[in-house]
Amino acid sequence: MRLENKVALITGAGSGMGRAASMLFAREGAKIAAADVNEASAAETAQMIKAAGGSAISIRADVSDSESARSMVDETVRALSGIDVLYNNAGIEGESGFTAQLSEEAFDRVIAINLRGVWLGMKYALPKMVERGGGAVINTASVAGLVGLKGAAAYCAAKAGVIALTRVAAIEYGRYNIRVNCICPGVIQTAMVERISGPDGLRPNFIQRASVFGRVGNADEIAHTALFLASDEAPFATGAPFIIDGGWVAS
Ligand SMILES: NC(=O)c1ccc[n+]([C@@H]2O[C@H](COP(=O)([O-])OP(=O)(O)OC[C@H]3O[C@@H](n4cnc5c(N)ncnc54)[C@H](O)[C@@H]3O)[C@@H](O)[C@H]2O)c1
Repeated sequence: MRLENKVALITGAGSGMGRAASMLFAREGAKIAAADVNEASAAETAQMIKAAGGSAISIRADVSDSESARSMVDETVRALSGIDVLYNNAGIEGESGFTAQLSEEAFDRVIAINLRGVWLGMKYALPKMVERGGGAVINTASVAGLVGLKGAAAYCAAKAGVIALTRVAAIEYGRYNIRVNCICPGVIQTAMVERISGPDGLRPNFIQRASVFGRVGNADEIAHTALFLASDEAPFATGAPFIIDGGWVAS
């Protein structure tokens, strides 16, 4: 198994890519701390892992809140005897609106969860990994951190910021045997995309533009990249954005 005896803390574990990664990491032998602001969905993920024979706890955590982020890491270390992998995946799409139309509250909320939340996760987990002698951090950025999307100024800025944070943490913590990478997913079928696209789903011409395969991605396709980055199969990978987007950025 590729994550045998590892402890992985995954944020946003109650839905979409966070749940898919939680299930996959557990199947590969990791003990999972499934964290989400939605307590019931995190508990459901932990329950699903246990029903499949894996090991998991659930934690209610708001990654944008310092106290909550700190206690999420502390609880993981206490309950599962350490932390080897932090997957900073929680995020929101935020409100859509052209740059000048976004409210300050909407801008701040996206930055608080999608960027500050990633930093807070690392702020509290990195010292534990240093003590442990190493670890792997995977942050969720997005294609939106690499290209501009109309109506998504705060989201794009936050995701570009995640790529920058990843680079800095990687060069600072390499000496402690900690690798820090991020994933830039393209359009992935999750609750987030369902909320954005509304009841009619994504427009076919959008899907054609967003992937050379003429389809959206699925959460498992991202989970497998996260698994690789979390595992000992990626010892020389650090500081890098991994673009998993069906060819969107290339086209
Ligand atoms: N779906 C896509 O197409 C896509 C593309 C690129 C990047 N992303 C990013 O991938 C990540 C996962 O998104 P998803 O598509 O699986 O969405 P999702 O909505 O299915 O899941 C996100 C999870 O994060 C949780 N969450 C939200 N705010 C939180 C907070 N403050 N603290 C803790 N948990 C919180 C939600 O409760 C939810 O369970 C996000 O960072 C998102 O920005 C998504």
